[in-house]
Amino acid sequence: MSESDNSQPVIDVEKVTFSFKEHRALERVTFQVWPGTLHGFVGPNGAGKTTTLKLICTLLRPQLGRVTVFGHDVREDMPAVRRRLGFMPDHFSLYRQMTVFEYLDFFAAAYGFPLKERDRIVSDVLALTDMDGRRDSLIQSLSRGLQQRVSLARVLVNDPDLLLLDEPASGLDPRARIELMEILRALREMGKTIFISSHILTELAELCDSVTIIDRGTTRFCGPMDELLRRNAEQPTYKIRLESPANGLVDTLRNMLEIVEVTLLDDPRELRIVCEPHTINANTLLNRLMEHNVEIVSFGHDQRHLNEAFMHLTQEGVRS
Ligand SMILES: Nc1ncnc2c1ncn2[C@@H]1O[C@H](COP(=O)(O)OP(=O)(O)OP(=O)(O)O)[C@@H](O)[C@H]1O
Ligand SMILES: [Mg+2]
Repeated sequence: MSESDNSQPVIDVEKVTFSFKEHRALERVTFQVWPGTLHGFVGPNGAGKTTTLKLICTLLRPQLGRVTVFGHDVREDMPAVRRRLGFMPDHFSLYRQMTVFEYLDFFAAAYGFPLKERDRIVSDVLALTDMDGRRDSLIQSLSRGLQQRVSLARVLVNDPDLLLLDEPASGLDPRARIELMEILRALREMGKTIFISSHILTELAELCDSVTIIDRGTTRFCGPMDELLRRNAEQPTYKIRLESPANGLVDTLRNMLEIVEVTLLDDPRELRIVCEPHTINANTLLNRLMEHNVEIVSFGHDQRHLNEAFMHLTQEGVRS
């Protein structure tokens, strides 16, 4: 499959079943990830996310079903799959006594890059992860957020077309999380496909174009993030923040046919708008608001509904 072929999925997981001895971890898991997308992989603890990622990156072999990456079967064409992807595990062991440069240079050497190319490669991956100033820092002296970025830089050393990231945002503070998300967006802009797992749907909602939801080893949803919201929020709900208090706008909005409910939130500059199903989409609603000359600071799906969608699809919380 060529890099510009957008008609084939980058990852195609078809009816994959996998057991650890007696314990069935995955049962006919099926989903696709399309080129150039940031695709979330979400499920509660023990759902099977890490197991699936290990199958995709060829660390485990599917017992039943088929996994292909860029059209290559993971069982039959392991080297071709490995060449095209970078896997960032959930628990990474950084060589803490090394400097950032030594660590990345070590991996570039392991990939077989000659000495004269390695300096440029390390500089490139440091620039991509916004770590230029940290080249000579000892890894153990870095914060968790920065160590996570070194780990991401390491994954980028062989310039993979597909990144597999297992819960990269867990344990990061909000700033480090936002910075990581920005880097991932920039990598997508470069044309890379990014498959990122998390157990928190709302954490990925803003970032991802599409999402697969998995629970107890089975796929519950695979598709665009918008579709997940449309399907599960019977009444699409938006949260809007305006530059100034919204009191004047509330009655106007309440008179619109498509709008079921308008609520001013604790901060009077914030509104929640509940719409009739299948009548109005985010674009139209935003245009309507603009017609009233209001200054909008932020506009998005109400995260409360995302949580409801997730709970609805996964039923229970934590499992073993
Ligand atoms: N090496 C193993 N041996 C036996 N069972 C395992 C092994 N690894 C995972 N499991 C089991 O397989 C199931 C799926 O585990 P997996 O680690 O893929 O879930 P996960 O979605 O990544 O969870 P988490 O959010 O906790 O990381 C769980 O029930 C887990 O206990
Ligand atoms: Mg896991």
